[in-house]
Amino acid sequence: MQVPLLDLRDQYAPLRDEIMKEIAEICDSQRFILGDKVVKLEKELSEYCGVPHTCGVTSGSDALLIALMVENIGAGDEVITSPFTFFATAGAIARTGATPVFVDIDAKTYNIDPEKIEAAVTSKTRAIIPVHLFGQCCDMDKINAIARKHNLIVIEDAAQSIGAEYKGRSAGSMSDYGCFSFFPSKNLGCFGDGGAVSTNTAERFELLKIFRNHGQGSTYIHKYVGGNFRLDALQAGILSIKLRELNKWHDGRARNAAIYRELFAASGITGVTLPEVADYTTRHIYNQFSIRISGGRRDAVRKFLTENNVGCNVYYPLCLHLQDCFAYLGGKAGDCPVSEAISQEILALPIYPELKKEQLEYVVATIEKALKQA
Ligand SMILES: Cc1ncc(COP(=O)(O)O)c(C=O)c1O
Repeated sequence: MQVPLLDLRDQYAPLRDEIMKEIAEICDSQRFILGDKVVKLEKELSEYCGVPHTCGVTSGSDALLIALMVENIGAGDEVITSPFTFFATAGAIARTGATPVFVDIDAKTYNIDPEKIEAAVTSKTRAIIPVHLFGQCCDMDKINAIARKHNLIVIEDAAQSIGAEYKGRSAGSMSDYGCFSFFPSKNLGCFGDGGAVSTNTAERFELLKIFRNHGQGSTYIHKYVGGNFRLDALQAGILSIKLRELNKWHDGRARNAAIYRELFAASGITGVTLPEVADYTTRHIYNQFSIRISGGRRDAVRKFLTENNVGCNVYYPLCLHLQDCFAYLGGKAGDCPVSEAISQEILALPIYPELKKEQLEYVVATIEKALKQA
């Protein structure tokens, strides 16, 4: 049996004709940059996420960068975030010239630990970027309370969590900005790179639109130094079609997560921790189903799974405070012990909606075999 970590072909097949028609229409119009298709998608995303405004941009990485740029965050400023996330979160902070400050995560959700944030706030702190990792939101009430107390901007990195809910509120709708990625492997993926930033005020929305187009207030009149962060009409057209299916895909992932829980419970497997769903989580969208394998056996299990045609991957093997490019920040092993321990144990299993029950059974049976040998 083959169980890839992700195979998008089954998702694409039933939408193929409609998507091809959309692509043909856009090619016939020869209007590729921003335009009606992007405006339509922005409105649909705002409605889906329950936010007043959404601005389509080039990627999730640029979504984070442009939000920081609009807030004029840069050299001399500090921005608090998680060390256990995809690089882009801290990369965006560093690209503005600001200093990323890493705060350890909560061992249950793998999200930034709100209890540890306040100790990291200094007179230079301007913003917090909580990352809703793997499809589950951070504890936003606590994070927003700290931000209000210290007058900080909050930018949600919702790249992995469009549609995830915290106490009934949607990821990206709970703070000043929400940043989304439409990288193909996300629950809502386009056919290349794409992203979006949601925001809560009309002023910020206007600034986002200006900054995504080289800071032009009007044609060739540059009020700010922005960048080319414009979303393509082709990607927007494809995303509008796929957005209609998104809840069904989320439900398919949640169904698979429930099947995994049953299969693991019925197996004789010990020393494996399944993803925990926090009390505050009203919807987990399972962009990843990441288990933890204790006792230094993760890499052996990973190898065995790969050899037996089960796709799996480690998100993330090296915490950001230990990356070479951030050596100048002086981070060292032991600074974020929870993140460091989890990075040695974490393993993402196939969870995409089109998987069959037999494939999930094969994954769990193969893990059981691997653990017997490890
Ligand atoms: C948590 C997180 N932040 C940011 C990004 C960056 O998004 P993109 O790949 O669209 O630039 C990603 C995507 O990989 C991500 O997972």
